[in-house]
Amino acid sequence: MAKKKKKTSSKTRRTKEKIKAKKIDFAPKEEAKRELKISAIEEGTVIDHIPTDATFKVVEILDLENQKGIVSIATNLSSKKIGKKAIIKVGGKSLSQEEVNKIAIVAPDATVNIIKNYNVKEKIKVKTPDVIDNVVKCSNPVCITNNEQIATKFYVVKKDPLKIKCHYCERSMGKEGIEII
Ligand code: CTP
Ligand code: ZN
Repeated sequence: MAKKKKKTSSKTRRTKEKIKAKKIDFAPKEEAKRELKISAIEEGTVIDHIPTDATFKVVEILDLENQKGIVSIATNLSSKKIGKKAIIKVGGKSLSQEEVNKIAIVAPDATVNIIKNYNVKEKIKVKTPDVIDNVVKCSNPVCITNNEQIATKFYVVKKDPLKIKCHYCERSMGKEGIEII
C-alpha cells in the first residue's frame, strides 16, 4: 500500500517551528508526564481488563456512586490483551460473589485483584456462568418476569460474544441488550 501523504506541508512545519514555547521552571520531567497516574491502593479491590464499553456498567453493578472510599476509574487505556481496557480501583471494598458474577456478564475477561497492604493478595479471573439468576432483565416486555414477581433466569448460549436465552419466554439477547437488574 502507498504511504499516506503527510498533511503538514513543509511551509506550515517551518512556521510552527518558529513558535517557541515559553520555558516554565516548574514543568514536570518528561518521564513523570508519561507515567500513568492511577495510584496504587493500600486495601481494596482492583478490577482490571474491563472492556471499555462495560466501564460504567461495572460502576453501576458495584454502586460506586455511593462508595465512601477512594474510587479511581480509568478507561480507554491500551491493553496488550484486549486492545483497549478500563481499570477500576475501589479502596476499602471487597466484592461479594454476587458482584463478581455480575461483573463476569459484562466483562468476561476481567480480573479481580484483592489488595491488602499494597500487595495483590488474590487474583480472581471472573467466569461467565452457565445460568444467570436474577441479574439481567428480560428485554421482552410481555415476558412473565416483567409482569409478575418472578426472578429472571437466563441460559448462556454463547460466552463470547455473549448470547443468553430467557428461561421463561425464550427470548435471545446479545450483550447490547443486557440490562442489569
Ligand atoms: N494494583 C493497585 N494497587 C496495589 C497493587 C496493584 O492498584 N497496591 C493494581 C495494578 O495497578 C494492576 C492490578 O492491581 O492494575 C494488578 O496488579 P498486578 O498483578 O501487580 O499487575 P499485572 O501483573 O499487570 O496484572 P495482570 O497479570 O492481571 O495483568
Ligand atoms: Zn423473558
